[in-house]
Amino acid sequence: MKEVKNIKEMQKLAEEWRKEGIKIGFVPTMGFLHEGHLSLVRIAKKLAQKVVVSIFVNPLQFGPQEDFRDYPRDIERDKKLLEAEEVDVVFIPEAEEMYPQGFQTYVEVTELTKGLCGAFRPGHFKGVTTVVLKLFNIVKPHIAVFGEKDYQQLMVIKRMVKDLNLDIEIVGAPIVREKDGLAMSSRNTYLSEEERKSALSLYKALQKAQELVNSGIKDVKQLKEELKNFIHQHPYTKVQYIEFVNPETLESVEKVDNPTLCALAVFVGKARLIDNAIIKP
Ligand code: PAJ
Repeated sequence: MKEVKNIKEMQKLAEEWRKEGIKIGFVPTMGFLHEGHLSLVRIAKKLAQKVVVSIFVNPLQFGPQEDFRDYPRDIERDKKLLEAEEVDVVFIPEAEEMYPQGFQTYVEVTELTKGLCGAFRPGHFKGVTTVVLKLFNIVKPHIAVFGEKDYQQLMVIKRMVKDLNLDIEIVGAPIVREKDGLAMSSRNTYLSEEERKSALSLYKALQKAQELVNSGIKDVKQLKEELKNFIHQHPYTKVQYIEFVNPETLESVEKVDNPTLCALAVFVGKARLIDNAIIKP
C-alpha cells in the first residue's frame, strides 16, 4: 500500500491510472477506522480496480463547540487495517495543504441540509460537501462509497454530484453494527462502560418504532413522543432529534403510510450518536 500525503502527487497518480483505463474507487474517511469503514473499502474493491482511502479529520465540518480536537486519531493502526484490505493508496493530506491561507471557496447543498443534523450543526454539511468535492478533484475517482449510517450525508453528496454534473457514481453502503446492534462509530470510543449500555437505546428505539407502526400507530407526533420517553429511560441520554422523513427528499412526514426514514441524534454523555432505519408501514 502506498502512502500519499501531497495533493499534486495524488492527482498525478490518479491521472496515470486514468490514462491506463483503470477504474478508481474511493472511500473518504476521518480515520479511527472500524468494520463500518472497512465494509465500504470491500465494496469499493469489488467495483473498482484501484482503491484509494483518504484519512482527513476535516476541520471545516466541525462547529466551534464540537469535538474536532478530541476526535480519535490513530493513523498507524488505520494503515495496518487498510494494508490488510489490500487498499492501493492511503491519502493523508495536511490541513495546511487542504486549506491554505486565503482559502475562500465553498460548495453548499441548500435544501437537503436544512433538517435533521443540518438543523443542529450549522455549517457542517457545507464543510462536508466542500471537502468531498476537493477530495474528488484530487483522487479523481470513478466511484465513491458512502455509508447509510450518515444517511443525510449520503443524500447530500448524491445531490451535489447530480447538481454539479460530477462524473462519479455514488454508492451507498448498509450500516454495520456491533453484535448487540449499536451502529459502529469512531465516536463510540467516547463512551464509558455505563454509557455504552445506554447507547444501545438508539438501535432499540428504531426497532421499537417499527413495532409501534406494526401495532397500528402511524401518527408521527405520537411515535416521536413514545420513542423520546423510551430513550430517556436510559441514563446519560439526551435526545437531540427524532425525525420521520421521506427517504428521498428528507422532508418530514406526519403519518407512516409509506416507507419512512426514522433518524435519531442522541447525546450519550458527551458523545453525540446518530442512527437511522427505514420503517415500513
Ligand atoms: P467518517 O465518519 O470517518 O465516515 C466515513 C464513511 O464511513 C462515511 O461514508 C460513513 O457513512 C461511513 N460509516 C461510518 N460508520 C459506519 C457504519 N457503522 N456502517 C457503515 N458505514 C459507516 O463521514 C465522514 O467520515 C466525513 O464526513 C467525510 C465523508 C470523510 C468527509 O469529511
